[in-house]
Amino acid sequence: MKIGVLGTGWVGLVTGNCLANLGNDVSFYDIDENKINSLKNQICPIYEPGLQELIIKNKNKTTYSTRPDEAIKDKDILFITVGTPADEDGCVDLRYIKQISRTIGENLNPQNFCLILNKSTSPPEALDIIEEEIKEIEKNNNIKYDYEIGCCPETLAEGTAIKDFSNPDRIIVGIKSEIAKGLVQKLFRPYALNQAEIIFIGPKEASLAKYASNTHLAARVAITNVISQIARKYNANTREIMKAVGKDRRIGQKFLHPSLGFGGSCFSKDIQALTFLSKQKELPGSTLLQEIINSNKSHTEHLIKDLLEHFNSLENKKITILGTAFKANVSDTRDSPAHRLIKILLELNADITVYDPKAMEETKKEFGDKINYAENENQATEGSSALIIATEWDIFRSLDLPNIKNKMQENPFFGDYRALYNEKELKDLGFKYYHV
Ligand SMILES: NC(=O)c1ccc[n+]([C@@H]2O[C@H](COP(=O)([O-])OP(=O)(O)OC[C@H]3O[C@@H](n4cnc5c(N)ncnc54)[C@H](O)[C@@H]3O)[C@@H](O)[C@H]2O)c1
Repeated sequence: MKIGVLGTGWVGLVTGNCLANLGNDVSFYDIDENKINSLKNQICPIYEPGLQELIIKNKNKTTYSTRPDEAIKDKDILFITVGTPADEDGCVDLRYIKQISRTIGENLNPQNFCLILNKSTSPPEALDIIEEEIKEIEKNNNIKYDYEIGCCPETLAEGTAIKDFSNPDRIIVGIKSEIAKGLVQKLFRPYALNQAEIIFIGPKEASLAKYASNTHLAARVAITNVISQIARKYNANTREIMKAVGKDRRIGQKFLHPSLGFGGSCFSKDIQALTFLSKQKELPGSTLLQEIINSNKSHTEHLIKDLLEHFNSLENKKITILGTAFKANVSDTRDSPAHRLIKILLELNADITVYDPKAMEETKKEFGDKINYAENENQATEGSSALIIATEWDIFRSLDLPNIKNKMQENPFFGDYRALYNEKELKDLGFKYYHV
């Protein structure tokens, strides 16, 4: 099939390349020339396991362009994968959706039926905006296109995006007509053969299903971390508690790991969007939604309390942060808990050194020469008074602890904020152990 992917971020690149890998011809369009130039040379602008290899493998089935006609004309299906950031009030900023809808309207071919599927996480209103923009162009140019607009929210998780996309639990598709349904069944048939269920629902339901999923997942993380705070008061082990909880089939084991809170480009933004919608419609549930965000932010503040309890003042204190990506196996630092932490520590004049296997460039873009950058985890901890694990990279699960302890200052602070280590082992080595 001929597919157009409009927006080459995490979702666009993974969607398009997984579909090209199934044998489809995929044309990508983005307004970011730097990104497109690097993609034309098969260089992936982000780190996502397996994506670089897939981009190279798909070389003959894909094109990357800043010319919209190449990605829009004569396509069977168009996927909208532009960003939908939150504005200051938490309201979804739909300006990129509006822009791309106009671009679609200016480039569709009146001779072909085209299914336009919005993959960007957006409220149901976005579907109306897409339609209005295209209709206005039809009216102004006195043409009539044959198209249907639907919603196919993306449920991949960064770090496992290719696996998630090509082996999904379910594919949510909000469309109305039989012709659209036929196209979607044909496109996703290889995944359906592998037991993925295609769930056909209404477009508005599909838009809201994405928000509902993310809210559930974020709430699990928030609740786990609140339980962890309570467990700490009893000197109880959260990992053991959550192992017991997760064995309940009604609950399940995922998203029950204590941390410094969730991050990434989606959870906060999507819950803020739902909170905004809920408040706008004067619904009482907005308080609960807002609390998920508030409680998530409290963990970095809690960590600062731990540091102040240990050191009294953080002025010029050398503090090492291992992991700046918002989660392991990605280069993405959007809304990263580590970045939240660095901002507070800078205000307290701490001397910060960081190391992350893949996210250093992103962290440098944000903090420049305000902090120090190490080449590996051992260098990062040399001479340091505190070590904080903020991201659960595999490499941080098996640190050379005796060696690290020897090279750190006296009575070092060990902040195991991903619950990777055993308290007793660390105490025996002479660390002062702190956790979520
Ligand atoms: N990243 C994730 O894990 C994830 C998962 C599921 C859903 N989503 C949702 O998918 C959408 C995209 O997320 P992302 O992380 O890929 O975003 P991103 O910011 O990484 O990429 C968006 C891309 O769209 C491009 N763009 C913006 N306006 C454009 C226009 N008018 N024409 C062409 N290109 C344009 C940008 O240049 C950018 O390259 C968002 O709505 C997000 O909430 C993201």
